[in-house]
Amino acid sequence: MRSVLIANPKGGAGKTTLATNLTGYFANAGESVTLCDLDRQQSSLRWMAFRDPAVPPITGHFAATQMLVSLPKEPDWVVLDAPAGLQGYKLSDYLRLVDKVVIPVVPSIFDMAATEDFLISIRQEMRGRKNAVGIVAMRVDPRTRAAAMLEEFLTHFDLPILSYIRNTQNYVNVAAGGLSIFDTPRSKYKKDIEQWNSLLQWLKD
Ligand SMILES: Nc1ncnc2c1ncn2[C@@H]1O[C@H](COP(=O)(O)OP(=O)(O)OP(=O)(O)O)[C@@H](O)[C@H]1O
Ligand SMILES: [Mg+2]
Repeated sequence: MRSVLIANPKGGAGKTTLATNLTGYFANAGESVTLCDLDRQQSSLRWMAFRDPAVPPITGHFAATQMLVSLPKEPDWVVLDAPAGLQGYKLSDYLRLVDKVVIPVVPSIFDMAATEDFLISIRQEMRGRKNAVGIVAMRVDPRTRAAAMLEEFLTHFDLPILSYIRNTQNYVNVAAGGLSIFDTPRSKYKKDIEQWNSLLQWLKD
């Protein structure tokens, strides 16, 4: 079993979008995958409830009301979708449980400011664990000024940008049907799927 926590204390950063699409990817790659929803809002589990039984299955696990002391061992992958505001001892406990942490960051001054303290504590807690933390630049085109701003911001934390995910209604549309961009490999998702390659490679390394 390998595990990844998707976290950022800022609401709406793209945690559930990353978590649901990531589990969709693993399911379509023939791997068994459990999606642990740590959020009381249960967005991930609601998404799963819409999922067509004909597409590759994902197991759901609701874990928002009590602390997870261990992760299920049976699946190939466990993906944890964190709630907004996750910090302090709860964050520390999850960091101890997982192999990797992926942090979606939207390159706006509001999002970056709200994420700063979180990145400082993650760096501190994960020191000594090589290649365990990475950033996903969310809703951004890498050629823009916003992307350059994010890159400059991240130089202070020495964390890699694993992928740039563009802003597109494709994510909104697939989510509405309990799907990921990997469940419906139509040509219109080709560009989006390509953007995930470097993140997926990093997770498997
Ligand atoms: N790349 C994208 N392009 C367009 N819309 C996106 C993208 N990523 C996320 N969104 C949309 O932005 C909104 C917030 O995303 P999401 O729910 O994944 O964030 P979150 O971090 O899980 O939020 P919360 O902190 O409330 O749990 C959603 O409506 C989602 O569909
Ligand atoms: Mg969410």
